[in-house]
Amino acid sequence: MTTLKLQTDIGRLTLKNPVMTASGTFGYGLEYADFCHLNALGGMVLKGTTLHPREGNPYPRMAETPAGMLNAVGLQNKGVKTLIKDLLPPLQAHLSEAEAADKTGMPTRILVNLSGSTVEDYVEAAELLDAAEAVSGVELNISCPNVKQGGMAFGTRPDTAAEVVSAVRKAYRGPLLVKLSPNVTDIAEMARAVEGAGADGVALINTLLGMEVDIEKAKPVLSTVTGGLSGPCVRPVALRMVWQVAKAVKIPVVGMGGIVDARDAIAFLMVGASAVEVGTANFEDPASAEKIAAGIAAYMERKGIADVRSLIGVI
Ligand SMILES: Cc1cc2nc3c(=O)[nH]c(=O)nc-3n(C[C@H](O)[C@H](O)[C@H](O)COP(=O)(O)O)c2cc1C
Repeated sequence: MTTLKLQTDIGRLTLKNPVMTASGTFGYGLEYADFCHLNALGGMVLKGTTLHPREGNPYPRMAETPAGMLNAVGLQNKGVKTLIKDLLPPLQAHLSEAEAADKTGMPTRILVNLSGSTVEDYVEAAELLDAAEAVSGVELNISCPNVKQGGMAFGTRPDTAAEVVSAVRKAYRGPLLVKLSPNVTDIAEMARAVEGAGADGVALINTLLGMEVDIEKAKPVLSTVTGGLSGPCVRPVALRMVWQVAKAVKIPVVGMGGIVDARDAIAFLMVGASAVEVGTANFEDPASAEKIAAGIAAYMERKGIADVRSLIGVI
């Protein structure tokens, strides 16, 4: 069979293959270099980054559930300036070295997941990212509480979502993906709102709001009471939402939620995702994303499919 074409486009952003790691589950990338061949990934979405460093929420902030996990890490991160100055250069150097050895023809893309508490904070951080040459794209996390609107997440209403997206759009000129929250009634309406505000693509789903109780202590398990549910238990919800969104917008869709193997990833491509992200599975096996990319190639080989793009949206 002729060489397989694994390249995919998220608007202006071309990936060498459709598999990326999801924000918050793969640190700043380099920590995983001993466990996963980073150059085998289409891209990496780095840890949720805010304008200023954050400590995150008090412990306990993680809980296991029957088929996934509940987290309330609360965007612990080193802040955008440290990211640009200290964390991106060694990651970029590692990827360039790996690319020089592998000659895959395209570097693994580095995307930054941008989070914030006010529109102004998002914009200031976006301006700094705009000038950062190592960054191939921004994934805007709008599931963060808006401190000026009583802590309601930006991404739970079309108007507040559109407001932050259009403000960031003016500050950041590169590929801008907007990551949607599944904690809404009508996900298609949210996708259309951010498309109208200038997003180049949408990524979904972020975690589903959940809760767990310790009956011995008669207390919630998480310090924050509620947290974000992820892992295989959310996959059917995620798949349904990606399918709905892919039909509702013209911009590309990046799908995620509970992907643990190539079969799961291919299902997301089939319902309309142009690429996928692998999250919670990294905690079980840090090489998951690399194995999933190889598994997609093996499936294409077995089925006689030459171009991965021919799988996108077949359902
Ligand atoms: C521990 C943890 C931290 C996360 N941190 C972020 C984050 O900083 N920004 C973000 O947009 N999503 C964050 N997420 C959500 C994931 O990127 C992903 O959207 C979600 O977990 C669903 O995918 P999965 O089931 O494959 O994990 C986090 C998820 C987990 C489990």
